[in-house]
Amino acid sequence: MIKSIDDYNNHYKSSVENPKKYWKEYANNFIWKKYPNKVLAWNFNEPDVKWFEDGKLNITENIFERNENNKDDIAIIWEPNEPDEKNKIFTYDQLFKEVCSFSNVLKKMGVKKGDRVIIYLPMIPEAAISMLACARIGAVHSVVFAGFSAKSLSDRINDCSAKVVITSDGNFRGSKVVDVKGVVDDALKSSQCVENVLTIKRTGSDVSMERGRDVWYHNQKNLVDDYCPPEEMHSEDLLFILYTSGSTGKPKGVVHTCAGYMLYTQFTFENVFQYSKGDTYWCTADVGWITGHSYIVYGPLLKGAKTIMFEGVPTYPDASRFWKIVDKYNVNQFYTAPTAIRALQSFGKQYLEGSSLKSLKVIGSVGEPINEEAWNWYNDNIGKNNCPIVDTWWQTETGGIMISPLPNIIDCKPTYATLPLPGIQPILLDNEGNEILENNIEGNLCIKYPWPSILRTTYGDHKRCKETYFSTFKGYYFTGDGAKRDDNGFYRILGRVDDVINVSGHRIGTAEVEDAINQNIEVIESAVVGFPHEIKGQGIFGFVIIKDSSEKIDYFNSIRETVNKHIGPIAKPDQILIVPGLPKTRSGKIMRRILRKIASDEFDNFGDISTLLNPEVVEEIITNYKTLNN
Ligand code: PRX
Repeated sequence: MIKSIDDYNNHYKSSVENPKKYWKEYANNFIWKKYPNKVLAWNFNEPDVKWFEDGKLNITENIFERNENNKDDIAIIWEPNEPDEKNKIFTYDQLFKEVCSFSNVLKKMGVKKGDRVIIYLPMIPEAAISMLACARIGAVHSVVFAGFSAKSLSDRINDCSAKVVITSDGNFRGSKVVDVKGVVDDALKSSQCVENVLTIKRTGSDVSMERGRDVWYHNQKNLVDDYCPPEEMHSEDLLFILYTSGSTGKPKGVVHTCAGYMLYTQFTFENVFQYSKGDTYWCTADVGWITGHSYIVYGPLLKGAKTIMFEGVPTYPDASRFWKIVDKYNVNQFYTAPTAIRALQSFGKQYLEGSSLKSLKVIGSVGEPINEEAWNWYNDNIGKNNCPIVDTWWQTETGGIMISPLPNIIDCKPTYATLPLPGIQPILLDNEGNEILENNIEGNLCIKYPWPSILRTTYGDHKRCKETYFSTFKGYYFTGDGAKRDDNGFYRILGRVDDVINVSGHRIGTAEVEDAINQNIEVIESAVVGFPHEIKGQGIFGFVIIKDSSEKIDYFNSIRETVNKHIGPIAKPDQILIVPGLPKTRSGKIMRRILRKIASDEFDNFGDISTLLNPEVVEEIITNYKTLNN
């Protein structure tokens, strides 16, 4: 573990001067079924990246068998939605048995190495257990956030031809009981590949079970053994697929493979959180996102850490819930998103009263740029000016944290993710692809050299992976983010430079939302942009052209409902403006930068609009906007 700035400098230097040696040494920490001799083969043109190609392993063997001496240590503490419901605590030994039983149930259902399994579950222990069970038997999991609609779920099921869906009867979320199984039933009306739905009882809600297809997990669990041998996996076999939004088209399945992901999540977890044995760590993300994969499940469990999973929301029963949980378990490392920080800040300091938060040593932020005000509030009120804030920049595609302070080793600076971790070689490029050598200039953030958990492909469509990440700037991985570097070499992430909106730390593609809006029968065409939002970071603004109608229609709610149905509540536009037309170039492309400005309350400096086919529409849109906001 890196313990000082000299250590960091030495690690960084060796990781850049001799990356193969650096990562090969780190690989010695793991159990291999076959020790790898080839460390790395790569080219960023195809792209084709292989780490430890000739090695064989199983990631769960590195969680359970490798940590066997610590089998009585706590692995997962599960905190339920209701504060007075009993929590569940699993030692490594207990978790291992749960994972093995789950593995055996999957095997009994005919799931084999390489089969895809969709996990559509709320934050219950089985979410982590089922992921690990897939990994144990070599099946490829694809977790879908349980807030996505039936349509989004079936798109993902079909894209990866999943054989099994794992779900629950329902979900307790704040004061609501959410139907989960019903969404799966709906999704399966347009998916033919799924053979079985394995259902976990959580809420006890009355659900329909289709004979021959749907199976209750608790019935099956009693019929199987609680030991399952680990499947031998090649380093580059698929571990999981996780769908994420981009600038164009439908969400793509980002593919991560076994060995590189394993190394890098453990490495980043231990260094970024400076986790010591006995510490209690809590990441508030949902396992449906990459943060949950890497820093609730894999990273902490590989390290043998004690990790908390929380079923509920930060504001239930009230806005003191997070802080009460921190005190209840004496949380030492706390990792959350700026949106949650801003939302809790807006409720006022009275919700902090009665929580000492004195166990905290490190607090973290992830998912979106953290504004200075939120950073200061977090620092003053949660960290009590005594805990380093690790502002961690990374992505679904990077698998693990790329740029972050190391607590008490690298200084924290509000709004800066600071320095790259060992093995990460960032570069800033201008729009023509020239390296920006001067400091304090904004550029496109790219990475020069592969790190172990870089995405390998987008499932079923390698060309798309190449076009999205490796074609804009030849020879580099392009992140889609803008960034600048200060005189200390610290990086500040400025947000997406493409058509992706970051709403409450969730990535949403404008094209996806437009597609959904256009499904509304009243809509002719739409354009979606992000705009600054006090709590969510960015909100979604839809400019919509509608059909002539004599009826009085509540377009706002009707369009939001359409989006809810096609994607899910997280993508519902915050604002909708009915417009007579959209500013388009002669080639038919919507000039979004004009719409972005208008949605941000700016009505001039639109730049060169000489290529606009219909410049008059801009004034009309501004007039409508001003009317809406008055
Ligand atoms: O724009 C960056 C932003 O979130 C994007 C990645 O989103 P996703 O793949 O969903 O993963 C989120 C969790 C890792 C990035 O392209 N982002 C992530 N972390 C930060 C950030 N922006 C600024 N600061 C961060 N710390």
